[in-house]
Amino acid sequence: MQKPPPKLSLAKLLDRLEPSKRDLCWQVLEDYHEIITVIPGAQTKHQTWEGGYISHVEEAMNICIGLYGVLSARRSLSFSLADALFCIFWHDFDKVLRFRKQADGSFMATKSYGSEFTDKIAELARKQYGYEFTADEYNAIKYAHGEGKDYHPSDRIMGPLATIVHCSDVISARIWFDEGRDPTAW
Ligand SMILES: [Fe+2]
Repeated sequence: MQKPPPKLSLAKLLDRLEPSKRDLCWQVLEDYHEIITVIPGAQTKHQTWEGGYISHVEEAMNICIGLYGVLSARRSLSFSLADALFCIFWHDFDKVLRFRKQADGSFMATKSYGSEFTDKIAELARKQYGYEFTADEYNAIKYAHGEGKDYHPSDRIMGPLATIVHCSDVISARIWFDEGRDPTAW
């Protein structure tokens, strides 16, 4: 097996973003610190430990760096690596809004996921941070988990950016679902 490239912590990953988006992400991390640093990646399926949400985001972003390198060495891509990393930062933000710690220490979803959460996240970015997602970013966050009920037999629903976000996410959540506790080692 080849020696793997280093795994980057979230702080190092955010350094890959353009400065205004990096600052935005740091502000979000600060504002939601009490929730975002303790919730799991999911309740039962991946990165289920306390703090697993950040582990999952970190893993998916690191996986994305690998995918982006492999793909862009073969054909040019219509989006930057920074675009994809930024969308991965946001792709599960509904969990920050939905997951809450229970009296017994477990984490429960206070609401089930629905497609309306993309609009809630976009509204939060706009109202709290003055940031308007581009159409491609919105599409990537909305379809990070696939096209679902929006699948169309002849129209492409997920855009290219959504697709690399989805691939990075699902590799973390379904291949390496129990990995990622160490932010700096594979
Ligand atoms: Fe995810």
